[in-house]
Amino acid sequence: MQYGSSGGGGGGDTSKTTKLERYNSYIRRVNSTKLLQASSKLLFRVTLLVALLLIFFFTLNYPPLSPSSSHAALHTSNSLLSSAFYGAGAVWEKQVRRSSTPRRPNGFSVLVTGAAGFVGSHCSLALKKRGDGVLGLDNFNSYYDPSLKRARQQLLQSHQVFIVEGDINDAELLHKLFDIVPFSHILHLAAQAGVRYAMQNPLSYVASNVAGFVSLLEVAKSADPQPAVVWASSSSVYGLNTQIPFSESDRTDRPASLYAATKKAGEAIAHTYNHIYGLSMTGLRFFTVYGPWGRPDMAYFFFTKDILHGKDINVYVTHEGDKEVARDFTYIDDIVRGCVGALDTAEKSTGSGGKKRAAAQLRVYNLGNTAPVTVGKLVGILESYLGVRAKKRVIKMPRNGDVPFTHANVSQAYRDFGYKPTTDLAAGLRKFVKWYVGYYGIESRAKKENHEQSADD
Ligand SMILES: NC(=O)c1ccc[n+]([C@@H]2O[C@H](COP(=O)([O-])OP(=O)(O)OC[C@H]3O[C@@H](n4cnc5c(N)ncnc54)[C@H](O)[C@@H]3O)[C@@H](O)[C@H]2O)c1
Ligand SMILES: *[C@@H]1O[C@H](CO)[C@@H](O)[C@H](O)[C@H]1NC(C)=O
Repeated sequence: MQYGSSGGGGGGDTSKTTKLERYNSYIRRVNSTKLLQASSKLLFRVTLLVALLLIFFFTLNYPPLSPSSSHAALHTSNSLLSSAFYGAGAVWEKQVRRSSTPRRPNGFSVLVTGAAGFVGSHCSLALKKRGDGVLGLDNFNSYYDPSLKRARQQLLQSHQVFIVEGDINDAELLHKLFDIVPFSHILHLAAQAGVRYAMQNPLSYVASNVAGFVSLLEVAKSADPQPAVVWASSSSVYGLNTQIPFSESDRTDRPASLYAATKKAGEAIAHTYNHIYGLSMTGLRFFTVYGPWGRPDMAYFFFTKDILHGKDINVYVTHEGDKEVARDFTYIDDIVRGCVGALDTAEKSTGSGGKKRAAAQLRVYNLGNTAPVTVGKLVGILESYLGVRAKKRVIKMPRNGDVPFTHANVSQAYRDFGYKPTTDLAAGLRKFVKWYVGYYGIESRAKKENHEQSADD
């Protein structure tokens, strides 16, 4: 293979050489312009792509749709600048602010964690309706059907309560919320609930009920002003206690489930943050809460479903003496009144800048119904409302953490904020069944009966 006259050296004819050189330089020029054009086109396209990617990235991450988004970077950036650049973020901030602004004189600004949950959604509505500002926080996890949480969210949305989707373990997000809103109270209801599920997924209890609680209190203690904290403990802390009724001063050092142990840990953690940082802390030990918009993992709820579907239901008896299992079932409206009463009587926290100036309030209350009912009786009431006979299987209660009997002494809550349960199980279940058949669109005798009954109301 020959390289020919390349390099221009050694050619005999001069004019030919010049021509060739001119031609070569022409070709070079043309090539370089082409190259320049091509490379500038490429540069333009790359720049456009990068710009688009950046815009895409920011719209995805701000407002925070996922718990682990980049609040930190945006958090520190100039808020005016970020509002101008990230319209979506400004809209989000506006929603947060509007939702938390009270509409009555001296109204509260309450951060409700677990607001898409059963108790959280009811409490959020009650507070909003009386003129308090309410901001919800919930991670919408799939422990039970998240579509029920979404439906509660829609209900809240229609009453101008905004729920931020995020995790209580996301400290950046919590700090951001406290930067936007000087919350006067936290109603902390987010938790991994359920006694039996703790054997399947124990670490979810530690993550939400222990780590998550600490994460929330860390932010609360450094907020200025510090909010007062009212939070959900559980009757399960009484564990193997046999003294009836359960009083707040009874032993709670023998939990029968990991769920109970994490709630007990919560009470110890509450003591610590009260003691060191002056956070006003009120723990509420709920006793088996039930009602409309309830939790599908609880017996009254899945009994209703299974009875309607003609499926067997398990009715537990105790190991000792085959006594029937009984619960102090508490209607949701009574629990809501208890939560609101606790918020209304909560004193201000006493710390600032991570230091306490004086002793702060530390309280624990039972919130129950004070009238235990056997599970057999519960099934009988459901049968009568549903117009269907249950297929009962009476079996010994498995040792999975459930306790055989609960009964609340609520005299402390009565003394301090007039707590007095007013709905018995029959009246409460009637409302639950009415909601259930309406929500799931079930045409049954129950629905007709309920219509007749509500016509009488
Ligand atoms: N319902 C009862 O009978 C009962 C009894 C005793 C105590 N409690 C306590 O009351 C509180 C409310 O219970 P509920 O029945 O409404 O339960 P729920 O499961 O309906 O509500 C809890 C909500 O918290 C959310 N959540 C869970 N972990 C979270 C996290 N890490 N970050 C953000 N959100 C999270 C869930 O998505 C859920 O919507 C819980 O603390 C529960 O342990 C309930
Ligand atoms: C209920 O609790 C109170 C304390 O709050 C106590 O004085 C009372 O004796 C208790 N009642 C019963 C029946 O145990």
